[in-house]
Amino acid sequence: MTSPDDVSRKIEKLRSEINHHNYRYYVLDSPEISDAEYDDLMRELKQLEEQYPQFLTEDSPSQRVGAAPVEAFGVVAHPQPLLSLGNVFSENELEAWYNRTLRLAGNSRFDFVGEHKIDGLAVALTYIDGKLATGATRGDGFRGEDITQNLRTVRSIPLSLTSDAPPRFEVRGEVFLSRQGFKKLNEQRAAEGQALFANPRNAAAGSVRQLDSRITARRPLDIYIYMLGWAEGKTTPATHWETMEYLKSLDFKVNPNNRQLQDLDAVKEYYRIWEKQREDLPYEADGIVIKINQLNLHDELGDTGHEPRWAIAYKFPAVQGTTRLKDIGISVGRTGTLNPYAILEPVSVGGVTIKQAALHNEDDIRRKDIRIGDTVIIQRAGEVIPEVVGPIASKRTGIEKEFSLIAKLPKNEQGEPACPSCGKNSIVRPEGEIMYYCVNSACPAQAQQRIEHFTSRGAMDIRGIGENLSAMLFSQGLVKDIADLYRLKDKRDELTNLEKLGEKSADNILAAIEKSKKRPLSRIIFALGIRHVGSETAEILADEFRTIDDLANATAERLEEISTIGPKIAESIAAFFQQDENKDILTRLKSAGVFPEEMAASKPADLPLSGKEFVLTGRLESLSRPEAEAKIKALGGTAKGSVTRKTDYVVAGADPGSKLTRARELGIPVLDEKKLLEMLENK
Ligand code: IVH
Repeated sequence: MTSPDDVSRKIEKLRSEINHHNYRYYVLDSPEISDAEYDDLMRELKQLEEQYPQFLTEDSPSQRVGAAPVEAFGVVAHPQPLLSLGNVFSENELEAWYNRTLRLAGNSRFDFVGEHKIDGLAVALTYIDGKLATGATRGDGFRGEDITQNLRTVRSIPLSLTSDAPPRFEVRGEVFLSRQGFKKLNEQRAAEGQALFANPRNAAAGSVRQLDSRITARRPLDIYIYMLGWAEGKTTPATHWETMEYLKSLDFKVNPNNRQLQDLDAVKEYYRIWEKQREDLPYEADGIVIKINQLNLHDELGDTGHEPRWAIAYKFPAVQGTTRLKDIGISVGRTGTLNPYAILEPVSVGGVTIKQAALHNEDDIRRKDIRIGDTVIIQRAGEVIPEVVGPIASKRTGIEKEFSLIAKLPKNEQGEPACPSCGKNSIVRPEGEIMYYCVNSACPAQAQQRIEHFTSRGAMDIRGIGENLSAMLFSQGLVKDIADLYRLKDKRDELTNLEKLGEKSADNILAAIEKSKKRPLSRIIFALGIRHVGSETAEILADEFRTIDDLANATAERLEEISTIGPKIAESIAAFFQQDENKDILTRLKSAGVFPEEMAASKPADLPLSGKEFVLTGRLESLSRPEAEAKIKALGGTAKGSVTRKTDYVVAGADPGSKLTRARELGIPVLDEKKLLEMLENK
């Protein structure tokens, strides 16, 4: 008779053999045994696990077939945000990035790693004690979806690690479908009469976000790991290249086309090679990614909030196609801009059918001499809206018509040009601007989009109200402006009766609206939809003013004192808060409780470090940088990325960089770690 111990040992042995062969096959692409031999091992393991279910574990290689479907994905907070990448499209832009980086890095010397930018889906994999604990999507960068079950089915993701990995760490990479895998999947779908995926990226994203992981398991997904997110409990290498070598030694799959590049010439060469050969790659890549190799410089250079300064994507030329420009339409944007757009004879470009494309503005259309009826070149690049590059003048027949925005607008009763949405003669083109605007603040297209923007993810994040519901709430008169959203709770019956909306959804929406009252000030500022104020400017404003009233009372001159705010933005902000309708909206938002007390409480001067700006450089021993920043913030201080005259203290840890030099130049007090800790403790 076999003892339980024997069985357990046998199972462990089989698992480790199968893991090894998985690795040979899926990661190294160099199997040591035949498929039939592999199947035999797997069959034996499954039999034992069936017979002795007490030994079945989640990380068993037999479990790569997927688990029972879930109703929705959970949410995972990323301990360190997943950023995106800045883009350059030419050698000139690349050089500009390089020169900027050189300047910011001071005298430090560095080299690069070149990688392919694969068009798939970013994921973060967390390993705890050698086992895959969580797999998550990027989401908004701060919070993603928990897709662990799905990622377990990706054969090239190790479920358990053999060598001595850090006790807790996170790697990041791109999940993708090879061209071949994509083709096979679509052939299969065609045979089954199912809708086809437009491109490998969509297919990969769709596969990874399946609620039923058994479906994911049947898709030939693959992964390349492209960075170490964070690691605890073990020192990891000091360069990106060595880190990737280290991750390879832990059995992670790393792209063999990555290269160490000594200087900018080598970067350009790497780009040229792959730009020519991209079609021969087994996967779709839309460019290369250039990363600074020295990790201390990653810390030093930091990020812009969205993009690291230590990496850049150098994109391959976009995919182009030609078609006929049937007409030019005009839509009204959230801030009243009249946006011309191309109405096209539908055409497939790189696997995506395109019917409309951006035309930017009238000047641009004139400069490119685009005429209605022209055969035009259109291009799409990555996620952005396709655009019209220009006409093919040789294809003209003589019946093409030049475009004039004013002439294209509908007319009001007096025969004057009118806004396509509100029908009012309210069109202006402010001096020095290239856009025409509808300045009627009651214009329905604008009002409705303001509501949509207010509820959107990056703004107040009111789940359940998207484009369609915003339009419906507005057209039914339930919500005339953003402040009305907070009165919806008194109109629950009407809300419930809205087309297709049941009691449950209505209650969920009302709960989401309530919850949104607690959003931080920066989100609220962004959500107001002030012209020229994006999320980054909103954060700067929130940092600077701390309360909405102080911001609302700021003059354009005061706003311009902020280094990142130019006259155009300053003017737009001041004008926004002077408008009676906006004053009224603010009053109503406040009385609904949207600007909570806590924010007012964090006014400068209320906390020991209020108004003090810190800049951290180098490595700290007892605290991680985010921890140190959090402590400073908790005491009312701010942590900034670069040293300016306004900086109060520079904190220098081990291996400090150019920020310390700059601090010395400007005569700014420098604290070492001990002094920082004393300061934090004594407050
Ligand atoms: S590094 C903070 N390396 O491109 C650095 N990204 O726009 C961010 N991507 O969401 C990522 N290949 O999904 C990096 N070799 C590579 C990549 C890569 C593809 C994707 C990634 C990210 C997006 C950035």
